[in-house]
Amino acid sequence: MIKLIGLNKIKTAIFISGNGSNFKRLYKLSLSKGSPITVCLVVSDNKNAKGLIYAKKFKLKIKIYQFENKQITENKLLNYLKKNNIKLICLAGFMKILRKNFIKKFNGKILNIHPSLLPKFKGLNTHERAIQNKEKFSGCTVHYVSSKLDSGKIILQKKVKINKKDTSKSLAKKVLKQEHILYFKAIKKIIF
Ligand code: GRF
Repeated sequence: MIKLIGLNKIKTAIFISGNGSNFKRLYKLSLSKGSPITVCLVVSDNKNAKGLIYAKKFKLKIKIYQFENKQITENKLLNYLKKNNIKLICLAGFMKILRKNFIKKFNGKILNIHPSLLPKFKGLNTHERAIQNKEKFSGCTVHYVSSKLDSGKIILQKKVKINKKDTSKSLAKKVLKQEHILYFKAIKKIIF
């Protein structure tokens, strides 16, 4: 849980590596009336991430890190986040695994969205695995980030039905649509 102090919105950084559709959606929703967050910064480990095109368009601050040496990079990043008064980090398709120390420094203030009904199908290729496993449902999960991959406390989940005709591509599309709704809902749930 994160406490709102007065009328100040929670300064939020969104971490992306690719398309950034969740980032884009979060940013748009953060502009809505009564939003508890304000998106101040986009962090990426990939200078070619498509999402950065939108970040530029929205005139947001962008920080790109190579993550060649994780410890050094994370220390720089921590300083930058502190300098910018960032109080919440939303991982949205961010492909780097953050180290324990980083997570500890932002304890309870890093969220992630994962395209499965956790604890099922942690890690990559979730849709392929859900279909191979003949699951009837898949979905998405917003959770706190802990030092164990995709294992932190669950905040919200949304189920999506898997039809016989579904491929990993069609399932990914259906799940992503729900992700775009779920992430902001989960953020609102933990800020009071
Ligand atoms: C989403 O499916 C998210 O759950 C996963 O990576 C994908 C990112 O999509 N972690 P986008 O970059 O937000 O479009």
